[in-house]
Amino acid sequence: MHPVNAAKVPGASIHSLGHLSRTVLVYSGEGKHVTLPAPRSEGDILSSPHLKAFTFKYLKYATRNFHPDSLIGEGGFGNVYIGRIDGQFLGAARPGSGVMVAVKRLKAEGFQGHKEWLSEVNYLGQLHHPNLVKLYGYCLDGDNRLLVYEYMPKGSLEKHLFCRGAHPLSWATRIKVAIGAAQGLTLLHDSKQQVIYRDFKASNILLDSEFNAKLSDFGLAKAGPTGDRSHVSTQVLGTEGYAAPEYIATGRLTTKCDVYSFGVVLLELLSGRRAVDKTKPREEQNLVEWSRPYLCDRRKLLRIMDTKLAGQYPKRAAYTAANLALQCTSEAKIRPQMSEVLSTLELLPTMTHSISSSPCRLERKSISSPMRDRLSISYSPMINSPLRDI
Ligand SMILES: Nc1ncnc2c1ncn2[C@@H]1O[C@H](COP(=O)(O)OP(=O)(O)OP(=O)(O)O)[C@@H](O)[C@H]1O
Ligand SMILES: [Mg+2]
Repeated sequence: MHPVNAAKVPGASIHSLGHLSRTVLVYSGEGKHVTLPAPRSEGDILSSPHLKAFTFKYLKYATRNFHPDSLIGEGGFGNVYIGRIDGQFLGAARPGSGVMVAVKRLKAEGFQGHKEWLSEVNYLGQLHHPNLVKLYGYCLDGDNRLLVYEYMPKGSLEKHLFCRGAHPLSWATRIKVAIGAAQGLTLLHDSKQQVIYRDFKASNILLDSEFNAKLSDFGLAKAGPTGDRSHVSTQVLGTEGYAAPEYIATGRLTTKCDVYSFGVVLLELLSGRRAVDKTKPREEQNLVEWSRPYLCDRRKLLRIMDTKLAGQYPKRAAYTAANLALQCTSEAKIRPQMSEVLSTLELLPTMTHSISSSPCRLERKSISSPMRDRLSISYSPMINSPLRDI
């Protein structure tokens, strides 16, 4: 069984796209944001000028009739195939030049799959950013629903971290991936019309040939609440091990839910362990619970670091990342914003020195202060009492 699909709630539905606000921001690539009118109907969504409508016949041809050799992935909502399409469809200057694509074919399963498919088309049809996977187009042909994405040659982060035989990722690559993914989430959260991603996990972080990370799968994404309100849903959607505890308990969905999931992925990057691993002894199955006591003590941290790193990482950077993961997976009110998480991650590549052997302490007061203050307290060699319960 694909472990990440275990907690997809069967028969659950996502909220109507009609709830979307009127505007969605698009990243222009030059630090500027452009506001586009948000689509209100299925017809509007599908007529996005950025997307190409493919016929089923053409995608069948492009994937060699969905040949098993073309299969590159399998998820809860269908199979993913590698394909080649004519560049002219994507506005290539030279007609006849082929472009590699990933074609996701949804299982014929009715309404639920259609809503997620439409949500994906809606968000990726409008949001363009180097850290979001590019959607070239879609196919809606009878019962067939497909999505055509840019092909990400290195596949998912999940594959690199957990698949047997995968070449171990270096420390520098892990941090690069974390920074890229954090940039993607920050864009979503900081857009004028905020987007909550809701399904942040290692299998949804795709990697290009240079290990640049891009978020995929916007099927569960949701426009953020306006004003002081938050979404409260009776149907909790997401993936076991990654979904924030308060969201599971109350259905209350905020950007802090994505921050929690980010913290879980950061722990996966540090430890090389899955968010949930049922093959481990009971007390080690949940990564957040198991790793918590080790995250804030430099000496203990070694015990949870991925042995595949073979100790090849700057201890100070690992310690900072572990503290950050701890903060992200703490109670919602003391979790940092994604922009703060990103600022901290961006410091990691510059950290090459070891720190003194004192364990850190996170104080209640420091947690509510800005991220930099929190971290400066964490690093202080003068503080040597163990982490307090927070
Ligand atoms: N654009 C792409 N380029 C390359 N590989 C891809 C692409 N999109 C998906 N894949 C591969 O296909 C796999 C399955 O993706 P999919 O999104 O269908 O399911 P999942 O993320 O593994 O699980 P879930 O259904 O819970 O989201 C991914 O993990 C990845 O390995
Ligand atoms: Mg996915």
